[in-house]
This record gives sequence, C-alpha cells and structure tokens, in this order.
Amino acid sequence: MRTLIVYDSLHGNTAQVAQAIGDALAGEVVVRRAGEAAGAEVKAFDLLIVGSPTHGGRPTEAMQGWLDRIPPAVLQGILVAAFDTRFSTRLVRVFGYAAPRIADSLEKKGATLLVPPTAFFVKGREGPLKEGELERAARWAQEIIASKLSEKSEQQGARALPSLDQPPG
Ligand SMILES: Cc1cc2nc3c(=O)[nH]c(=O)nc-3n(C[C@H](O)[C@H](O)[C@H](O)COP(=O)(O)O)c2cc1C
Repeated sequence: MRTLIVYDSLHGNTAQVAQAIGDALAGEVVVRRAGEAAGAEVKAFDLLIVGSPTHGGRPTEAMQGWLDRIPPAVLQGILVAAFDTRFSTRLVRVFGYAAPRIADSLEKKGATLLVPPTAFFVKGREGPLKEGELERAARWAQEIIASKLSEKSEQQGARALPSLDQPPG
C-alpha cells in the first residue's frame, strides 16, 4: 500500500500528528508539507491523508490552496481521510473546523472518504498537543487501514456477484 500524507503546520503540532499517523501505517508512506506536494502526485498513491491546523474555523491558506489546485481527474475514486488540530474550547465551535472542510473539498472533486474527519487537540494557541494525542493518531491510522480493507473486500464482493443479465451456470 502507498500512502501520501499532506499536512500544513505553523507550530509543529500538525506535523507531529502527520508523522505519527505515517509511522503507524504499513507499506510505503510519504509525508509532505502542502507547499511541497504536487497535486498530480496523488495519482501514484492508494490512500491520501490530509491534515491542517484549524485557523479561523478553516484549513490554513496554504492547505486550502493545495486542495484547490488538485485537478479533479486526479481524485476520482481515490481513498482519502482528513484530520485537523484545534483548540478544545467551546468558544471556537461556532466557526467550524478544518477537517470537515478538507473532507468536503476532496469529496467534491470525486474522492471517497474512508472514515469521518477527525480532530487532535492542542492545549494552547501554539500547542503543545494534549497528552495522548499522538497515540490516538496512531489508533486512527489503524482505523483507516481497517476501513480500507473492508472497502477493498466490498469492491471484490461486488465484482464476484453474478450479472443480472446472465443467469448463473
Ligand atoms: C491564526 C490562528 C487562528 C486559529 N483559529 C483557530 C480556530 O478557529 N479554532 C481552533 O480550534 N483553533 C484555532 N487556532 C489554534 C490552532 O488550531 C493551533 O495553533 C494549531 O492546532 C496548532 O497546529 P500547528 O502547530 O501545526 O500549527 C488558531 C491558531 C492561529 C495561529
């Protein structure tokens, strides 16, 4: 399995989460900052995981710019997952968060979301991450794998179904 993880990070917290997710995945894993990844590159991977800090309820400008630049043709049928880092206070809920918007952008261009968008929490504006978040990131990576395996077996199951036009035998 080949996985591309694309992230943005101002203070290093989202970078740490991206790396923890990458370390927990089997197979070839490439971890890139949004500014360093070409959208067309996605095509060479089985799985794309995108993560950004939440800034004003949204992904960072660099991340949104990267998402906007991916040609839709590249994302057709690509399996994706989205995460963000954010405060855990109630005050910011009204603005929304980055991960659901990342997921929306990817799905609108034809990608298939494997698991619900998720969040990892920082203690202050510049971090650090709350205790246990890197371990949770590793567990989330396992959930993604489990979901990818079941998606694959569903596809194989669908192919194995007899055609309705031709009676079996
Ligand atoms: C300009 C700015 C705006 C932010 N806006 C939000 C916000 O709307 N909601 C939130 O939960 N956290 C917000 N934060 C906190 C960031 O989510 C936090 O800095 C980020 O998770 C740290 O990730 P990083 O170390 O990868 O940059 C904001 C931080 C900055 C610097």
